[in-house]
Order: sequence, then C-alpha cells, then structure tokens
Amino acid sequence: MNNIEQTLSIIKPDAVERNLTDEIKKIFTNNNLNIKESKKIHITKDEASEFYKVHQSKPFYNDLCAYLSSGPIVVMILEGQNAVLANRKLMGATNPKEAEEKTIRKLYGISIDKNSVHGSDSTENAKKEIEFFFKN
Ligand code: CDP
Ligand code: MG
Repeated sequence: MNNIEQTLSIIKPDAVERNLTDEIKKIFTNNNLNIKESKKIHITKDEASEFYKVHQSKPFYNDLCAYLSSGPIVVMILEGQNAVLANRKLMGATNPKEAEEKTIRKLYGISIDKNSVHGSDSTENAKKEIEFFFKN
C-alpha cells in the first residue's frame, strides 16, 4: 500500500562535529528517504528542553538537553514510504552497542547519549517535531 509519510531526523552534535553529515544523508537517500528540508542550526538549552520535554521526568533529561544544545546539529524532513518506521530501522537501537549491523547508530554512535541521530517515533510526533523546527 502507498503510504508516503514525513518524519523528522536530527544529526546530533557528535556526528556533525566528526563531519559525518554527508555520509548519514547518503544512507537516507540510498534507502528511498528523500531529504525535503535540511538546515544546520545551533539551538539553546531552553529550545532543547522544549523539544525533549516528553523525557522531562527521566534521569537523563538534563544531560540530554545540555548535549543537544552543545554544538551544531542538522535537522531534516525525510519523506518516503512509511518514513517514520523506515528511519527508525535505519537508525538502529538507542544504545549503539545493541544496534544491528549497518544501522547508523552501529556505524557511528559512540554511546547511548552520543548516538549520532534522532528520529521521530510515531507519525503524530513526526508532525509535532517537524512543526517545531520548520514552522513557516
Ligand atoms: O532516540 P530514541 O528514540 O532511540 O531514544 P529515547 O528513549 O527517545 O531517548 C532519547 C535520547 O535520550 C536517546 O537518543 C539518547 O541520546 C538519550 N538517552 C540517554 O542519554 N540515556 C538513556 N538511558 C536513554 C536515552
Ligand atoms: Mg525517542
């Protein structure tokens, strides 16, 4: 069935600073996820806290927000067949040590916090996250 979706992807500071942006983008485009929008930005800790507020009760929340705002990131809208799930599969498990071979986190992730990429986990959250970074 035809189910073209959009999802939000972020290349996190650890990957941007190691110049992995183009390699990661190639993984998306080679797997039929088109990059509709892309911008390199450096967000504040307050913006990161707003973006990750679903995690506000977690013990790692403060470090996570400090980390996402610690350096430039690349935010992208990916579009393609079942894009939300397709992107999650390409990313691999949250902890790079548990990620499958050839996934982005297995290839490039350093640790559970420096795991190179973010991806929306549902179509509903994808809409919210795209709106967060690409309103008008
Ligand atoms: O990113 P993903 O959706 O796979 O994982 P999450 O459970 O939504 O957690 C968001 C982010 O918090 C992860 O990507 C990790 O960078 C970070 N995290 C962490 O630092 N320590 C944990 N125990 C779990 C997540
Ligand atoms: Mg998540």
